[in-house]
Amino acid sequence: MIDKSLVKRRFKKSLAKYEENAVIQKIMAEKLIKILPSGEYNSILEIGCATGLLTRILKKNIKFNHYNAIDIVAEAKDYIKQIIPNAEFIEGDIEEITINNKYDLIISNACLQWCNNPEKVIEKLKKSLNKGGIIAITLFGEENLKELKEYFKLESPVLFKPNNVIFHDEEKIKIYFNSPLDILKHLKQTGANALKNYKLTRTMLSDFEKYHKKHYNEGEKVYITYNPEYLILN
Ligand SMILES: C[S@@+](CC[C@H](N)C(=O)[O-])C[C@H]1O[C@@H](n2cnc3c(N)ncnc32)[C@H](O)[C@@H]1O
Repeated sequence: MIDKSLVKRRFKKSLAKYEENAVIQKIMAEKLIKILPSGEYNSILEIGCATGLLTRILKKNIKFNHYNAIDIVAEAKDYIKQIIPNAEFIEGDIEEITINNKYDLIISNACLQWCNNPEKVIEKLKKSLNKGGIIAITLFGEENLKELKEYFKLESPVLFKPNNVIFHDEEKIKIYFNSPLDILKHLKQTGANALKNYKLTRTMLSDFEKYHKKHYNEGEKVYITYNPEYLILN
């Protein structure tokens, strides 16, 4: 079970530094906008908007009239209002809240893997689409952070195979760092380590450093692999 209060705490804390570190989320957001089948949607709902990384790219490239955004972290509202002043912000957990309106595009970047039951969320979102509307999402696949999974006993992302998929793609992207400790800092600042509430001792850290350097190095650098997935559904 995903601990939602931990997810909320970690993301709230990481908001200020999120975009400095959200290298992979930026790549995903740009590709998600590129694969949208149209450049124009009357009404849009974004889920898990955070600091508006996707929102900004969307605003530059897509025409729309109404924009609503949801995040479990209340502070995301200020960021979204700066980008789209007339956007409506809804604070809440997408698994719990009722969606009252209907939309032409429901979009979400790197968020739905934080849900306990993404399939159920997708079913709820489908009911909130106008005729001809689409859902466009990215999330992380099975091989995400595979170099860390074994060592830290990370839970695998919740995998799901939704119906009505009109587009699917996935990538494996290596990101390089100077040291294994830089990897941990990077994950902390994107809120991505929320699955486990680790208290790492010095001995554990130095053990992890040795292990990661030995197994996952290229030249002077060490790396982790991200496995983004892109889905468009109707
Ligand atoms: C990795 S960030 C992605 C942010 C943004 N979409 C982007 O493109 O950079 C995930 C965001 O989803 C939010 N989030 C996580 N679980 C959520 C849930 N169940 N309901 C609503 N928002 C959630 C977090 O608070 C965080 O702001």
